[in-house]
Amino acid sequence: MKKRTYYNGELREQHIGEIVTVNGWVQSRRDHGGLIFVDLRDRTGLVQLKFDASLVKDDFAAAESIRSEYVLQATGRVCSRGEGLENPRLATGAVEIEVEELTVFNKAKTSPIYIDDEHQMSEELRMKYRYLDLRRPSKQRNLMLRSKVTHAIRRFLDGEGFIDVETPYLTRSTPEGARDYLVPSRIHSGEFYALPQSPQIFKQLLMAGGLDRYYQIVRCFRDEDLRGDRQPEFTQVDLETSFLTMEEIQTITEELLKYVVKESLGKDIKVPFKRMPYDEAMDRFGSDKPDVRFGMELINVSDIVASSSLQVFKSVVENNGLVKAINLKGLADEYSRKDADQLATFVAKFKAKGLAWLKVDEEGFKGPIAKFLTDQSADLVERLDAQVGDIIFFCADQASVVHQSLGELRVHLAKKHQLIDESELAFLWIVDWPMFEYDEDAERYVAAHHPFTKPVNDDPKALLEAPDEARGAAYDIVLNGYEIGGGSLRINTVEMQEAMFERIGMSKEESRGQFGFLLEALEYGFPPHGGIALGLDRLVMLLAGEQNIREVIAFSKNGNAVDPLTNAPSFVDTKQLNELHLKTK
Ligand code: AMO
Ligand code: AMP
Repeated sequence: MKKRTYYNGELREQHIGEIVTVNGWVQSRRDHGGLIFVDLRDRTGLVQLKFDASLVKDDFAAAESIRSEYVLQATGRVCSRGEGLENPRLATGAVEIEVEELTVFNKAKTSPIYIDDEHQMSEELRMKYRYLDLRRPSKQRNLMLRSKVTHAIRRFLDGEGFIDVETPYLTRSTPEGARDYLVPSRIHSGEFYALPQSPQIFKQLLMAGGLDRYYQIVRCFRDEDLRGDRQPEFTQVDLETSFLTMEEIQTITEELLKYVVKESLGKDIKVPFKRMPYDEAMDRFGSDKPDVRFGMELINVSDIVASSSLQVFKSVVENNGLVKAINLKGLADEYSRKDADQLATFVAKFKAKGLAWLKVDEEGFKGPIAKFLTDQSADLVERLDAQVGDIIFFCADQASVVHQSLGELRVHLAKKHQLIDESELAFLWIVDWPMFEYDEDAERYVAAHHPFTKPVNDDPKALLEAPDEARGAAYDIVLNGYEIGGGSLRINTVEMQEAMFERIGMSKEESRGQFGFLLEALEYGFPPHGGIALGLDRLVMLLAGEQNIREVIAFSKNGNAVDPLTNAPSFVDTKQLNELHLKTK
């Protein structure tokens, strides 16, 4: 094998006359009888090879035999393609290599997927043949971007004095959070390790250990229902610091992201990012991770419609519910009555019982509910900034249903009508979080963030007595409508940690049993500390302009938590099960 002199995508007019050696895969081959052209691909791009029967002699027969995805080495002289023969779509389009020596390293069967970015293909098939899918330029670009991002993260954090520490993957299962992935112990019959959902407790213990600033780019495991932005194993950029305020941790995070975006995309982003209280995000956008690249905010009209003759609205307001609306400006003409009614099925997924709508024309409101709102129309026009050509959607229900339904509808409509500037990176902090959510099914309070987050009020009694009022020293970071990170200051006294466990319904025995090591550590001089974890897959997905984190993960699972390539998960031998003291049902 000869030594490669250039990657394919590097060749330019300046190389004309040089004898070069390139390696790669055959993208395409065109036979002009006595003259064969091959586009050869590697991770940098394509270059055209020219096989002239008179030049390559013995090798010409080999050139005739090659097909797509054969792996080759070609040596030859870089030549100009000549006036009018350039290919402006290729970076190397001004030149070609006149091949003098050809080695076919390997043949290839016909690929079951297209190795290009032009064809739409079944994702399942792409995942089954991931090694072929990885040859596609967009896939390679995404993985190279991811590599740039992680390198930039490491450079930045190293420069800021963060120490990279690894934490265990085989750890203990604790309640709270998502479902654990369990690993049975062979040595201890009936006992299990759990794979970490995050290194949360370990990074806190590193602060107790005096490390001061820790980071890790770390795999986390959560057995959750999957979505486009959720994988069972995913990667966090995990940070923890001692003796810093919330604002200082946020500033480090902003500077980190600014550096990463500049290094990976060459783009400048503005810091500090906007901060929005949780309540405001829910009120204006119906979401704790609002996409603020476009308007169409949720507008509360409860007070106006309370007096209307529309029974659904009236009764919802009387029962302490909410009526909110979003105004899709100028697009009324795109909606027939049937189209508008059909959006009710979209919001039904979020438990909305209906979706009322109005159109605005020269004479005022039009649509099935207009006649019930005649007395309210002047006020509605003003509140909703209603103009001729607008279509307005209303949802009436309890607050959580209204917010989720209209929040999701807002994003759905903005995508459908392309109201979003896709080149924008809209970072946003969500702050002033409630400490708890009430879980109706479990009939208890659960931590809104996690049970180690410090409440803003330092009094453990207040946490126990007024959980609804308690606010957490927590912050989420949002990018373009995705939660890309979350963090908080942590509880660092045993009194507060015990109050927290009690408040979420754990008995003293339970909390000592599950978290005894942490409670004990809190009594040995635990510094004030806090941190954050960024979802690396989501961040890279957004920087790459992709819609699904699977596109920025080399080997991912499908929506069913299956890897179609290796067919994991799989059944195992009875012998293996016996060793682990397990029997399957
Ligand atoms: P949290 O649970 O918010 O916080 O996770 C941090 C970030 O990780 C990403 N993320 C995911 N990405 C892909 N697939 C998943 N299944 C998935 N789950 C979460 C999100 C999220 O914002 N220990 C705390 C952090 C802290 O308090 O410092 C934690 O894990 O982008
Ligand atoms: P109905 O009186 O059931 O025919 O409903 C009249 C209109 O109000 C229809 O367009 C329904 O989709 C809509 N609607 C019904 N319930 C709600 C609700 N909870 N919120 C918003 N619109 C609703």
